[in-house]
Amino acid sequence: MEIFKTKKTLLDYIERQKEMGKKIGFAPTMGALHQGHLSLYAEARKENDLVISSIFVNPTQFNNAADLEKYPRTIENDIKALEQSGFVDAVYIPEVNDIYPDGLKSKSYDFDGLENEMEGKFRPGHFDGVGTVVEELFQQVKPDNAYFGDKDYQQLAIIKKLAEKHNSSIKIHGVPIYRESSGLAMSSRNQRLDSTQREAAKVIYETLVKANEWFRVITVPEINQRVKDIFENQRGMTLEYFLIADEATLKETDFFYKDRNYRAFIVVNVGDVRLIDNMHLD
Ligand code: PAJ
Repeated sequence: MEIFKTKKTLLDYIERQKEMGKKIGFAPTMGALHQGHLSLYAEARKENDLVISSIFVNPTQFNNAADLEKYPRTIENDIKALEQSGFVDAVYIPEVNDIYPDGLKSKSYDFDGLENEMEGKFRPGHFDGVGTVVEELFQQVKPDNAYFGDKDYQQLAIIKKLAEKHNSSIKIHGVPIYRESSGLAMSSRNQRLDSTQREAAKVIYETLVKANEWFRVITVPEINQRVKDIFENQRGMTLEYFLIADEATLKETDFFYKDRNYRAFIVVNVGDVRLIDNMHLD
């Protein structure tokens, strides 16, 4: 596996690969890699000649300085995991300067309102940071296909919009959420949970499963209330939000219309670890 630590070496490599007509699949990450990330590369491997990953903890998408500081950084293990997976041809590990030559600031995006829902409300500026880093990485890596997890469903929708709006020829693919056997969605942040918290965090997935059972059986306000009740009784855990949204607009709904697709979204703070999950309702 090739490892590129500067923009220049990456660009030279990409240029050579493009000249050879290689089809490039790309999955950006912030490292602390787990099976969820590897599932993106497995998917990319199926339909590209080259699979490229990036590892960059992007400061502009953190609206909370403590969260940025505590974000796990495990670069040596990450490189091993990528090598052992056998899925990845090259990894790009840029310096801040390679992404932000003019200083650490985000561009300001209009994603047709998608950016104002859910995470956009709770994490101001987050999607401007994500858009800025992903647009820059796309420009440098020049992929044909790019892969993002359903785990961050709103992010996936926003990246699709980013590609569409910037007339990009990059095809964006969503990859299903990879879960631990307990149902807990794999996340780099899970590393910060102790064993009691990890056990307790199963309730997040269990709640989504229940919401799916209640879908079109009881009303949306009733579902919302039941979810609140579940978390009232959880020690060391607070529900930041639970809501059901239309999958296309990501707007919260209080009624299930026929012929629309819905998804439940949840964010829970377990101690000071913020966990996010979602599930399609059917
Ligand atoms: P990160 O949280 O490292 O996630 C990188 C990619 O892995 C994202 O597309 C995310 O949705 C996907 N992913 C994470 N956990 C997953 C799981 N359990 N199953 C399936 N996919 C999973 O998301 C980011 O980084 C950043 O915002 C980034 C896009 C890299 C921009 O900085």
